[in-house]
Amino acid sequence: MKITVVGAGAVGASCAEYIAIKNFASEVVLLDIKEGYAEGKAMDLMQCASLNGFDTKITGSTNDYSKTANSHICVITSGIPRKPGMTREELIGINAGIVKTVSTNLVEHSPNTVLIVVSNPMDTMTYLAHKVTGLPKHKIIGMGGALDSARFKYRLAEALNAPISDVDGMVIGGHSDVGMVPLTSHATRNSIKVSEFISSERLEQVKQDTKVGGATLTKLLGTSAWYAPGAAVSGLVQAIACDQKKIFPCSVLLNGEYGLSDLCIGVPVVLGANGIEKIVEIKLSDNEKAHLQTSAEGVKKTNSLLDV
Ligand code: LAC
Repeated sequence: MKITVVGAGAVGASCAEYIAIKNFASEVVLLDIKEGYAEGKAMDLMQCASLNGFDTKITGSTNDYSKTANSHICVITSGIPRKPGMTREELIGINAGIVKTVSTNLVEHSPNTVLIVVSNPMDTMTYLAHKVTGLPKHKIIGMGGALDSARFKYRLAEALNAPISDVDGMVIGGHSDVGMVPLTSHATRNSIKVSEFISSERLEQVKQDTKVGGATLTKLLGTSAWYAPGAAVSGLVQAIACDQKKIFPCSVLLNGEYGLSDLCIGVPVVLGANGIEKIVEIKLSDNEKAHLQTSAEGVKKTNSLLDV
């Protein structure tokens, strides 16, 4: 199982680290355009192997895509992250060109790969990857919902004063401050609806805090987050690599599901060896349905800025 991660910045390196620590892949190739950077990160990570007990071989490459050949899964984290006060959508100008080049190069060397897009604005970059690579639709996955759901669970656990392992919840919709749709009506604590424990006002606060989860961290850190994004990507990679058939909300190309078409947006999917094995259509409340619709309009507006 060979995995390529493009972009050896904080998110890419965290992603490689979590994949290695979980010890399911034989090889991770880190690639970056900055001379020697990916090689350095790979060497530093490899020096964790004996300490953290993994056998995954991590190598680095400065922009040599031949090193990525025949990867089963490729992750794109390249591009610039947002600065405090910026929206993810504002990154489109620079990141669209980068994602176009990177995804084309990756697929040229790994024509059967599953592509995971992390670069922002993620839903639009995932749509762009579809347009430029021609990969089948079950092989292109945008990572946002897994991260947003982890942030939702963090906020739910805080509000409920419960351990995170006791709560479950999912965020669908666009990976943006306004577009996220935390499914509060489906959130549970050990199978009991969270509304049994907290007021609707508190739940609304959880929802708002979840939606600005990335922006809150960007303000604190001066750049966008990396640990949870890296961990979230590693979860998707593991589900595909180990054919786990797990459900994650992912940004996928819709063709009528949820009444939406010709865009990539977060919905629950089953992930396995083939990539997206099934799009799961769940019953949404009227409020959630309306919110998803507005979210989709926002994603389409950003997509319209693409030159494809
Ligand atoms: C975030 C970035 C990865 O939400 O979109 O932290």
